[in-house]
Amino acid sequence: MTDDKLKGVSMGGDGDDAAELTPTATLARLYEEQGFFDKAASVYKKLLVMEPDRADLKEKLEDIEKRLAVISPQPEKSETSTMLDHLTGWQKTIGERKKMLDQEGEKRRRILVIHGPNLGMLGRREPSVYGTLTLEEINEEIKKTAEECGMSADTFQSNHEGEMIEKIYEAIDGYDVLIINAAAYTHTSVAIRDALLMLDIPIIEVHLSNIYRREPFRQKSMIADVATAQVVGFGKDGYTMAVRGSVNMSRRT
Ligand code: DQA
Repeated sequence: MTDDKLKGVSMGGDGDDAAELTPTATLARLYEEQGFFDKAASVYKKLLVMEPDRADLKEKLEDIEKRLAVISPQPEKSETSTMLDHLTGWQKTIGERKKMLDQEGEKRRRILVIHGPNLGMLGRREPSVYGTLTLEEINEEIKKTAEECGMSADTFQSNHEGEMIEKIYEAIDGYDVLIINAAAYTHTSVAIRDALLMLDIPIIEVHLSNIYRREPFRQKSMIADVATAQVVGFGKDGYTMAVRGSVNMSRRT
C-alpha cells in the first residue's frame, strides 16, 4: 500500500502527512479508506481535542484503535528474551533447591564413632589380627562413607573407660547413631554397658576381628544385648558396613 491516492487528493509532502495537513473528518476517513489507520487515528485524536464531545469521532477512533490492535499484535518474544525467561526460571529453581538442601543439611543424621583402648595403635598393633591400616585411615573411610550416605560422622578414641563413658553421654542428645568398638572393655565394662543403656539412638557394636572365634574371654560381650546390631570379623570394612547399615535404622524403644 502507498500514499499515492492520498497524495492525489492534495496530501502531498514528505513526512508525517497527518501532522502537516489540517485535521478534518474527511482527511481521517480518506486515511482510513486507504488503510493508513495510524494516520487516521492521529487525525481523529486532533479533532477530538478541538471537539471533545463528538461521539461520532470517539466511536471512529475506538473502531480504528481496535483495528490497529489486530494489525499490530504484541511483537513475539525474541529467542533471547525467551531464553532469559527460562534462565531466570532455572535460577529460581536452583536457588530453591539449594535452600532446601541447606535445610536438609542441618537435619543430616550425625554418627558418633567411639574406638576403645589400644585401637589408636592400629597399623602397628597385631596387623595379622587387626589389619595394616591406621586408625586415622579408618576414620577417613568412615567419614567418607557417611558423607556418601548423606550423613556426617565424628570419631573419638580413648584408652580410658571414663572418657569413653563421657563421650557416650554426648550422644544422648547430640547424635543419631552410635558406632562403638569398646575393644577390651567390651568384655569387662559394666560401666560402659550402663552408659549405653541411657541412649535411645541405634547402637552398632563393631569388632575388627571375629571375637567369637577367639579366646573364650573375648567371646563374651557386655554390650551385645544392649546394641541394636553387631558387626564382627570384617576388619576395617566392619565400620563402613555399620555406617551404611545405620542409614535406615530408627530409634530404639
Ligand atoms: C577388638 C576385639 C577385642 O577383644 C580386643 O580387645 C580389641 C579389638 C576387635 O576390634 O576385634 O582391642 O575389639
